[in-house]
Amino acid sequence: MLHKTNIAVLVSGGGTNLQALIDAEKSGIIKSGEIKLVISNKEGAYALERAKSAGIRTETVSKKELGSQEAFEEKIKELLKDAGIELIVLAGFMSILSESFTSAYPERIINVHPSLIPSFCGAGFYGLRVHEAALSYGVKVTGATVHFVNEIPDGGKIIMQKAVEVQPGDTPEILQRRVMEQAEWIILPRAVEKVSAEINKSK
Ligand code: GAR
Repeated sequence: MLHKTNIAVLVSGGGTNLQALIDAEKSGIIKSGEIKLVISNKEGAYALERAKSAGIRTETVSKKELGSQEAFEEKIKELLKDAGIELIVLAGFMSILSESFTSAYPERIINVHPSLIPSFCGAGFYGLRVHEAALSYGVKVTGATVHFVNEIPDGGKIIMQKAVEVQPGDTPEILQRRVMEQAEWIILPRAVEKVSAEINKSK
């Protein structure tokens, strides 16, 4: 192996998926990639603390401060370029990236979504809202999906999926936790390893 794939993780909140990636790198589940940079669009996001504790460089990029989507994305691109990033992982990143951004990194951006795409996905479906929608529809099985990111929200090629059962009495919070534990934290690291290995092979 020449060198590991340089990974950036984009976050907005608690960062449990980021933690799963950090743990997977430590345990060797991720062996073909290395997390070099964590970027948050929210100041004070707890995910930043997780990154710092693991000795990973952190940056915060605020759309409000930069004044436009274009300036926001340009700043992120600059940080990615400076760090030599080859794979971008959206792990609870709650800001939609424009086509001009996503088309600059074809099959180099991956996202974890807390449902079985094509159910409960697309614009407006994020975080707890996804689980609220699944419960109100009454599905008995939900899950998580890791997919490549293109110009269509949650519309890129699927990399991995894992199903999770809905239980009687579930609240959105209980279901969210089960989907994270039984699906997201398992398939996101595996998908990151798979794509990192493919990138290394193509070098
Ligand atoms: C996760 O459930 C993730 O799948 C979801 O937000 C949560 C973030 O949690 N992402 C989306 O809904 C994206 N559309 P985390 O910050 O603890 O990883």
